[in-house]
Amino acid sequence: MAAVDTTKIFRTDLFNGKVLLCSGGGSGICRGMTEAMVTHGAKAVIISRNFEKLQKAAEEMSKATNGEVIPVQADVRKPEDVERAVAKTIEKFGRIDFLINGAAGNFLAPFDGLSYNAFRTVIEIDLLGSFNLTKATMQHLRASKGSIINVSATLHYTGTIFQQHAGAAKAGIDALTKHWAVELGPSGVRVNGIAPGPIAATEGLSRLAGDLTDPQQIPVQRVGEVKDIAQATVFLFSEGATFITGQVVVVDGGHYLQTSNPAYPDSVLASVPDSKL
Ligand code: HXC
Ligand code: NAP
Repeated sequence: MAAVDTTKIFRTDLFNGKVLLCSGGGSGICRGMTEAMVTHGAKAVIISRNFEKLQKAAEEMSKATNGEVIPVQADVRKPEDVERAVAKTIEKFGRIDFLINGAAGNFLAPFDGLSYNAFRTVIEIDLLGSFNLTKATMQHLRASKGSIINVSATLHYTGTIFQQHAGAAKAGIDALTKHWAVELGPSGVRVNGIAPGPIAATEGLSRLAGDLTDPQQIPVQRVGEVKDIAQATVFLFSEGATFITGQVVVVDGGHYLQTSNPAYPDSVLASVPDSKL
């Protein structure tokens, strides 16, 4: 059985005959998004820089789902790479219905520790990478009246410390989600974003927060899981969401709302009856 099981919630034939192209699909959150789409009938091409990692992930996902996942090496910063990846997808499957822009790079860095090149690198992977891949894919999405999910974050909602590079990149991506939704809507292409909160057992969480994310600081009292993002993905790409476009869906158990609350001192809390959080 697939590692991410969405079959109890959604029909398994939802995406029969459809094709997904996903950047960053060889690991973490985007691998889970891909696996869920393939579980529901889609065929998929996953792209990133490390071919061995992609190949292993593609084999494991194909086996777990009885589906078809193909690895293609591509650096989303390079237009020639993404054009080659799109051409290979068309050669293999003949169409593209769904695009996930998930490739990203990140690390914690304070203002003074962030070099010119470090800032540029993250903007190039996340923001320019999303533009590049979407530009290369668009004619096929128009032809299929397809749909895009841009993977964002909540970092820029609150000015998260040591995250100006990723926050700026994700803010740009959220802007693209809205611009593309407006311009491409008349061609039948829907565009939405998913902004995950801290997601357990991912590269992103280990780089940024490690074990520091306390479930009690999250309103639903647990850390997010890859399956939470996978479920939102299946919904947003499904027929159930055909009137939803230009939206960034926050999937974080209320985490970012909670972080905007003041940390009341115990002396204040003592004066508030039944104050738990
Ligand atoms: C400061 C750093 C740094 C660090 C790299 N740099 N790591 N600066 N602190 N920890 C600087 C380098 O010194 C260099 O600048 C510049 O960044 C480019 O580094 P390269 O190693 O040459 O870049 P590259 O090989 O392209 O690799 C990109 C990368 C790398 C982002 C630096 O970490 C990577 O490939 N990451 C992919 C996987 C990943 O990050 N996954 C997590 C996504 S999570 P100089 O000036 O020295 O040349 C996410 C959001 C999570 O996006 C939100 C959670 C809540
Ligand atoms: P991850 O496993 O490291 O995923 C990032 C992927 O991007 C990797 O597969 C990486 O593969 C690929 N990538 C990086 N640079 C690339 C490039 N230049 N060209 C092509 N592919 C590239 O991390 P994750 O934590 O699951 O994050 C996945 C997505 O969720 C990201 O967009 C991230 O910003 C977002 N997010 C994560 C969290 C979290 O808690 N983890 C929270 C909010 C948002 P290669 O190294 O093979 O290239």
